[in-house]
Amino acid sequence: LQALAARTRQDFLVGAAVALGPLTGDEDYAREVVGNFGALTPENAMKPQFLSPQQGVYTFEEADAILAIAQSKGMAVHGHTIAFTEAMPRWMQQLPTGSKTERDASAAALLDYLTTVVTHFKGRLASLDVVNEPFDVNQGTSMQQNIWYRVFGPGYPAVVSKAVYAADPRVLQYINENGADVPGQRQDALLKLILDTNAQGGHIHGAGLQAHVYNLKTDAISADALTRTLNRFGDAGLHVRISENDVTDGQGKDAQAKQYATVLATCLRSPTCVSYTTWGVDDRYDWWIDDGGSLRQGHDHLFNNGQPTPAYDAVKRALGG
Ligand code: G3I
Repeated sequence: LQALAARTRQDFLVGAAVALGPLTGDEDYAREVVGNFGALTPENAMKPQFLSPQQGVYTFEEADAILAIAQSKGMAVHGHTIAFTEAMPRWMQQLPTGSKTERDASAAALLDYLTTVVTHFKGRLASLDVVNEPFDVNQGTSMQQNIWYRVFGPGYPAVVSKAVYAADPRVLQYINENGADVPGQRQDALLKLILDTNAQGGHIHGAGLQAHVYNLKTDAISADALTRTLNRFGDAGLHVRISENDVTDGQGKDAQAKQYATVLATCLRSPTCVSYTTWGVDDRYDWWIDDGGSLRQGHDHLFNNGQPTPAYDAVKRALGG
């Protein structure tokens, strides 16, 4: 897929979110990854809860192992993520914020974490989600009041961005969000947050638009809506990564395949859209709990048990292959 995309745009990256376990332990998965993608995003290994289980303690081994594989195969790495409400270790979530003295100490602890992590990975990441999912989980437009917000206030993305820049001025910074893939209030809020962050001295290069399509009836992304979106961010002087595309097969394999191909082809056509990443590789590792509480295998990915799916074939055709 990477080689096909490069025939249209040499610098365009086609990536996947990956986990170390199957990369080193499952030949099918490793072949699918190495044979198709030019960029990797560690799915979980660079989240704060995995990098720093206790304050001042760092566990970089898993992330470093993924980075070493990427480097040996000539793949770029996108880092995911510094400030993410859902993926913080307990010590970080529970930093005290009651008094000014407490907030100052907590600010120092957060910035110490950030600087240690960004310095550790310096020079090995092409890009990084400095803030992930800043907005309401219920698809609203208010900011989640996580520890960064409680310590630094609503302008925390600028604090994060400036501190990342100080530790690694070269890594391209993104704010990554779901539900902002098509024009609407949530997209307005994301665009405004990025522009405000940069107006406050931040260094945000662009938006990560996740493009999770869990319900094709309500969340389908049309070529037209995505094109208008990309033009909007481009006109504002920003770049876009399609950062986490995965598509349900709940409305059939054809609809799934078509949606995958539309998102990738539309991204590839726009100079604003610098890369496309799919969230996961093979259905073998896609498990979820349904409403009734049962564990089910998902069928969201480009591969299923070592074989390409119709979605893979559609993506390949969309790239002219
Ligand atoms: O590895 C631990 C294991 O040691 C422990 O016993 C087990 C018990 O809870 O948890 C395991 O960690 C889980 C991890 O996935 C690895 O399997 C976490 O609990 C679980 O919360 C985590 O879920 C991840 C989720 O983000 C939350 O961080 C998913 O794998 C990951 O695909 C998902 O990805 C997110 C992006 O980061 C942001 N955008 C949405 C996207 C999809 O939800």
